[in-house]
Amino acid sequence: MLEQFKADVDEGLSSQPKFLSSKYFYDKLGDDLFVQIMNLPEYYLTRAEMDIFQNQTDALIEAIHVKTDTNFELIELGAGDGTKTKKLLSRLLEKGYAFEYFPIDISQNALNQLEDSLKREMPQLNVNPQQGDYFNVLSSLKPNQKPKVILFLGSNIGNMIDERASAFIYQLGENVHTGDKLVLGVDLIKSEEIVLPAYNDASGVTRAFNLNILKRINDQLGANFILEQFDHAPEYSEETGIAKSYIMSLADQVVHIESLDTSYDFKAGEKIQTEISRKYNDDILANILKLTDFKIIEKLSDRNGYFADYIIEKQFSE
Ligand code: AVI
Repeated sequence: MLEQFKADVDEGLSSQPKFLSSKYFYDKLGDDLFVQIMNLPEYYLTRAEMDIFQNQTDALIEAIHVKTDTNFELIELGAGDGTKTKKLLSRLLEKGYAFEYFPIDISQNALNQLEDSLKREMPQLNVNPQQGDYFNVLSSLKPNQKPKVILFLGSNIGNMIDERASAFIYQLGENVHTGDKLVLGVDLIKSEEIVLPAYNDASGVTRAFNLNILKRINDQLGANFILEQFDHAPEYSEETGIAKSYIMSLADQVVHIESLDTSYDFKAGEKIQTEISRKYNDDILANILKLTDFKIIEKLSDRNGYFADYIIEKQFSE
């Protein structure tokens, strides 16, 4: 883990242009900051998807085409605190569906909290938390032949470039059967006036979230980044639909990373790319799905048309 972090930091900071992977945002502080981001007035994504789960729950259930008399598995990738999913779970129980809920997350702590709250709020729910790698869990469930519905919400797919998103969805398809569904939550392309503030909030939480990656390099790899000498610099293009986060050096400076025994030069104004947050439309998603075995069968949007949950179905038998 630490060796991988070292190698990735060295590769990213030695490249031209420089980059660091957004997966390194999420340490304890990064997780806390992301929870704060989801509650920011500017960060519309979580509220927009909640609008779908809260106000179109029956339409969502209809769209996933599950039957009341067939036991199915509802598998959530990166379940977190499950706030949105709870709306779906309680309605499925109310309507008498027979299913098991498998929340998968990297964080055992998040899973424990989710399980406790579900036990309290929905004691009749059959919940089976799984810690670890999404694909390991999915491949362990594949042999049982039960119909499966995978949830991948929150526009998490948007943090992957399109080629990786395609490969990821293809791999999901390898681990399920024909007719199984994926509910894919994605942020939709819209104007810069709405998207950019979501990544550049007035209270500076996203700034702290982005710069936390430098703090993490300081703490874990013994670097001497002076955080005040760097700034948060997000960009968004309505043409491409891609938001990018950068960390910009505010001065010519040299940073030493002890555990790599290496120094890295930064020019004033030089940027390190830390994240992409892709926004979608039907064509972009259809294009990504071309290289997979999935087809779009339904799309549910929130009342503002900001966000969509696409229901996509595995097509071919393996
Ligand atoms: C987790 N992910 C979908 C968030 C996003 O919107 O790309 C991460 C984030 N980055 C800055 N703000 C939120």
